[in-house]
Amino acid sequence: MRIPSHLAIIMDGNGRWAEQRQLPRIAGHHRGVESVQEIVAECRTLGVRYLTLYAFSSENWGRPEDEVNALMGLLGRYLESELDTMCARNIRFQVIGEIDRLPAEVGQVLRRTVAQTANNKEMVLTLALSYGARNEMVRAIRELARQVADGRLAAEAIDDDLLSRTLDTAGLPDPDLLIRTSGEMRISNFLLWQLAYTELYFTEDLWPDFSRQKLHQAFAEYARRQRRFGLIAAQVKGEENH
Ligand code: FPP
Repeated sequence: MRIPSHLAIIMDGNGRWAEQRQLPRIAGHHRGVESVQEIVAECRTLGVRYLTLYAFSSENWGRPEDEVNALMGLLGRYLESELDTMCARNIRFQVIGEIDRLPAEVGQVLRRTVAQTANNKEMVLTLALSYGARNEMVRAIRELARQVADGRLAAEAIDDDLLSRTLDTAGLPDPDLLIRTSGEMRISNFLLWQLAYTELYFTEDLWPDFSRQKLHQAFAEYARRQRRFGLIAAQVKGEENH
């Protein structure tokens, strides 16, 4: 089966999963972490090279303070508990987003995990944290504008490739497949530039219910899709088995 090289996921529905069971929302996030562990492991096993997870958006800062604090705590504990597994399975960890806005302790554990997994080669796991795509693009454009203003860059030298290399996702190929759970059919300010030709897959399953079997279903659907990148079918025939 054709497996996406780069899979991006909007992990949605933890809160609703908990509310359906009259549990506090944070209980849904706890179960959400278990799904993260299962899906990371399965992606690594199946040979996904890049996995990018939307864990906390720029807008999520507006949630009640106790939920934000609980999510930050979960994130720190997740990273500490997964470091050995990431190293054992040769997974490189990185982050995109406004990392400076995260609490200092979380920033520390993030930097440590990035540094200690830097030489791992089999899969790149990227967490989007305090991430919003418009903010990412604004920061990149400011950086390029500074270079133009300083005379280090000609405006004409700015093209698709340079902008891609200036975004937080520099070095990552564009996603082949985006999965969003919980029935919402939106992109919600995730990887707006990078998703230009990405196949989109929406499922009603809430994130805590998203298992490896559900991942296989998404990959089976992806394998049936024909990606044309704006060309006609006959032109892309040779690409089909990639
Ligand atoms: C969406 O559910 C999920 C989030 C805002 C956070 C995602 C976080 C996790 C899966 C756990 C922590 C992550 C890691 C990597 C340790 P929601 O709360 O928006 O659900 P709702 O739409 O049903 O309210």
